[in-house]
Amino acid sequence: MSKKSVSKPDVAVLPRHVAVVMDGNGRWAQRRFLPRSSGHKFGVDALKRIVRRCIELGIGHLTVFAFSSENWSRPAEEVQTLMGLFIQALQRESAELARQGVRLRIVGDLSAFSPEMRDLIVQAEELTRSNDRLVLNVALNYGGRWDMLQAAQALHSAGEAPTAAGIERHLALRHSPDPDLLIRTGGERRISNFLLWQIAYTELYFTDTLWPDFNAQSLDEALVDFSSRQRRFGGVPEANPRAAA
Ligand code: IPE
Ligand code: IPE
Ligand code: MG
Repeated sequence: MSKKSVSKPDVAVLPRHVAVVMDGNGRWAQRRFLPRSSGHKFGVDALKRIVRRCIELGIGHLTVFAFSSENWSRPAEEVQTLMGLFIQALQRESAELARQGVRLRIVGDLSAFSPEMRDLIVQAEELTRSNDRLVLNVALNYGGRWDMLQAAQALHSAGEAPTAAGIERHLALRHSPDPDLLIRTGGERRISNFLLWQIAYTELYFTDTLWPDFNAQSLDEALVDFSSRQRRFGGVPEANPRAAA
């Protein structure tokens, strides 16, 4: 292991959980007169950089939006390229993630995926299950509305009355705290059906940087911005100790 000391952003407080809408791959490629698929390939490298930086900084949970429930509406060729990339990433990166101490969790409606991909998901989750340095949640065929609906349906099937705690027990991210910071790259200022329930009090950060260009320094900039926010959770700063944290 390298002994080189890690430079950390000068921040008072780091988020426990960072969520990212990794947007802008297509535009990144188009600007270089490359096919959109090449933007997605470079997007995988950006994710690897951000995983490494989260580990260096001691951030415990990272949740990334890789494929939304609505992304099936893209041209079949692009959907196929993305599925190929997910399979390749699961095959090539799982061992390295395990070595880094990452616990991988794939969240979303996995019933739509091929048996090959579902097997790879099970294997990668199994390989990394005893790790706790960083929980990496990759949202695949995920939608915030799907998530809330499936949680409500699970409660209903169990014959339980709906409560907030009951819904939270069935949400796809039940094993992670709510995100403290949500970053969206690529310039759009919207949620696009990513986490809905879980971001009730999440700090939002939007940047024009396209996802394949996002690097450790870009993450640090988001963290510095986050650290300057005053969180109130509906209270007033003096009255709510969580807000001052
Ligand atoms: C995000 O990049 C990746 C996925 C949605 C899979 P896009 O492919 O949406 O890139 P833009 O927004 O078209 O530039
Ligand atoms: C959100 O990006 C989904 C992912 C990054 C996986 P989109 O590119 O699909 O979002 P819209 O269509 O611009 O809202
Ligand atoms: Mg997009």
